[in-house]
Amino acid sequence: MTPKTLAIRTGGAEGFAAWRDVFATRAPWLRCVHWDDPDFAPAAVDYALVWEPTAGVFPRMDKLRLIFSSGAGVDGILACPDVPRQVPIVRQAVAGATQRMGEFCAWAVLTVLKEGRRMAIAQAERRWAYFDPEFAATERTVGIMGLGAMGTRSAEMLQGLGFSVIGWSRGRKTVPGVESFAGAAELDAFLARSHILVCLLPATPETRHIVAARTLSLLPRGAGYVGLGRGMQQNQDDILAALESGQLSGAVLDVFEPEPLPPEHPFWTHPKVTVTAHLASIATREERADFMLATLAAFERGEQLPMLFDPARGY
Ligand code: NAP
Ligand code: GLV
Repeated sequence: MTPKTLAIRTGGAEGFAAWRDVFATRAPWLRCVHWDDPDFAPAAVDYALVWEPTAGVFPRMDKLRLIFSSGAGVDGILACPDVPRQVPIVRQAVAGATQRMGEFCAWAVLTVLKEGRRMAIAQAERRWAYFDPEFAATERTVGIMGLGAMGTRSAEMLQGLGFSVIGWSRGRKTVPGVESFAGAAELDAFLARSHILVCLLPATPETRHIVAARTLSLLPRGAGYVGLGRGMQQNQDDILAALESGQLSGAVLDVFEPEPLPPEHPFWTHPKVTVTAHLASIATREERADFMLATLAAFERGEQLPMLFDPARGY
């Protein structure tokens, strides 16, 4: 391969060093430079791997031909005011990431079903608090908003646990065993059936605060909520109000607005909320590097690329 330069900004200085080591063994022709290194030359950069790129650098990358997100979402990239519109952006949703998301989603849904937060509080207080969780998985329907790569794998794993699973997306889907609801016209019917609602949507203008008072009020009373997409999709005050009123019985939240969740936020100590630090799913660097190198080879052969961000859809 002709030598090429990859500018990296994901995971800080430590992340850069780890990525450089991963590429050194797989693609010695790829020179990795750290985006935040004051001495790096943007004009030499062919490709970028970024999560939250800083402003003022892209316009100096005259040779830039391809941008990789280091994750599935591209919201951190789109937030950069000077991201070049003509350069394709490739998202990552490799098998390792969808598998981990399925596992995390299954854990979160079971945490809601089995009242894991209640058990954790009792343990922290050294209190032997016997109780019977009310329902078995076979008696509950999980509704997944966003039946894409992450939602589909989660649906498969939840079905394996005995849950009925329904999904909501823009277009109709055929996922074995999963009833598909499509578009705004079918949202309310979908919500009315969801004993546990999971959000795995991308961040777009249409999905801003989609989980809010109206949505939550349409769920069966005492429903659970699992937030795994992006914090901007949730009205956090409305979630708190629904927990207080009993409309929601519990929540597992991995994403917030803003992140990190401020220390004074009531979610941290809420007896019905489990908080995790936006860690539901990320594939290993090795898996992502292999995906990127296969994608770069396809790109240089002029082939159609997988997982392309579509500006018209917004994800
Ligand atoms: P994906 O394959 O592109 O799937 C997105 C799904 O959302 C599709 O089913 C799409 O429907 C649906 N959708 C988009 N906009 C919609 C709208 N306005 N109304 C209804 N449905 C809509 O994406 P993915 O790889 O599954 O990832 C989904 C999101 O998960 C990411 O964007 C990211 O925000 C989040 N995520 C979070 C973590 C974490 O650690 N917490 C990790 C990875 C990903 P159509 O296919 O019909 O268009
Ligand atoms: C993580 O949040 C991702 O988008 O991959």
